[in-house]
Amino acid sequence: MRPIRIAVAGLGVVGSETVRLLRARSESLRQRMGTRIEIAAVCDRHASAMAKRLGLPASVRRLSDPRLLPGLPGVDAVVELMGGLDAPRSLVLASLRQGRHVVTANKRLLAHCWKELGQAAAQGRSRLHFEASVAGGIPILKALDTSLAGDRIEAVYGILNGTTNFILTRMAEGMDPAAALRRAQELGLAEADPTRDLSGQDTADKVSILASLVTGSWLRPAQVNTSGITGVAPEDMAFAETVLGRRIKLLGTLRVLSRAGRRPAVEAFAAPVLIPLAHPLAAVRDEFNAVLVRATSAGDLMFYGRGAGAGPAASAVLGDILALGRELVSGAAPASAPPGPAPVLGESACSFYLRLAALDRPGVLSAVTQVLGGLGISISTIHQPGACGPKHIPIMLTTHPARPETFRRALRRILALPDISRRHTVMRLLP
Ligand code: HSE
Repeated sequence: MRPIRIAVAGLGVVGSETVRLLRARSESLRQRMGTRIEIAAVCDRHASAMAKRLGLPASVRRLSDPRLLPGLPGVDAVVELMGGLDAPRSLVLASLRQGRHVVTANKRLLAHCWKELGQAAAQGRSRLHFEASVAGGIPILKALDTSLAGDRIEAVYGILNGTTNFILTRMAEGMDPAAALRRAQELGLAEADPTRDLSGQDTADKVSILASLVTGSWLRPAQVNTSGITGVAPEDMAFAETVLGRRIKLLGTLRVLSRAGRRPAVEAFAAPVLIPLAHPLAAVRDEFNAVLVRATSAGDLMFYGRGAGAGPAASAVLGDILALGRELVSGAAPASAPPGPAPVLGESACSFYLRLAALDRPGVLSAVTQVLGGLGISISTIHQPGACGPKHIPIMLTTHPARPETFRRALRRILALPDISRRHTVMRLLP
């Protein structure tokens, strides 16, 4: 078979490492795939300088405008590693529609444009691979899509954002959140603008991709119940660890309900959660990612590794290029129909953690417990650790499982009580 000719768009750290590995491992890739990968073109703002730095031969075309890539003659596949949303979206959609296969690491693009991408791929009879988009070097998408394809996925729990896991790890050790973020930035872990990390949106994008892959439908990121870590205070961390025996982690959570003859329905979260210290995800520290998959037949499976960085991402991209090459060599037909919308389940009952700020006056605790009791919500633990005085002091409580809408009604009533501040933090407890 003739070589598979690819164009690499974006020669940042991941793109450069991908090109370097493709060249360094070309022979073993050829043996595993049955044909050669040829880099036909690279595209970058500094394409010429980068190509020179990577030692690419003169036969590799250097382009600075990604809009030229989809129409480039003789290119079988585009490897999109540009980052951002608008330019990659135009490039990937045009490439797929014109019958170019695509490998991308772009989580935002996939999560927000899943349906459009499916339609474009169906139109061009092209293939789309995106392992690096979720949990970097951890091969979780292929595991779900191939190895576990015969099983029934019941739930997925993931630490999917390295930046926030690093920050939460430092906070559990007593570091101030702002200092922990600065440290993450100094180490090159956090993005220059960490807003999407801290707000949980990055995790929500990854949950959307996992859900869409597991269900075959499109779960929009807006359908993922999302809250970030900015409301998590050092006192929550300390209280969770020392009193509750739990650790706070930003989790992407997916509950999947399989239904005979119908598409599976999902409940999805990207939010900080209190997990038992003995839970395997509690041991995942620093910038590491991990995913726990609960499958009906295989049981619980735990995947652990680096979720970002040049090496892990390039490893996943190479795996995708190899998978694509094998598909092209075997002539297997591309996946068919574009997806419909994912059916979303109502929120299931769970235990809640609530931190309030209250004036330490007689009757305050009793007023709080009366609201909860009056709505049938049973308190599991309640603590008021501060000293008596004129200022607001924290009240931390946890509930037994309650319906979320009932809990929210109770919270509205509690926050309207005279001695309770509007400032509060709510998190779920993982069973
Ligand atoms: N900002 C992401 C993280 C990069 O911190 O995990 C990988 O998607």
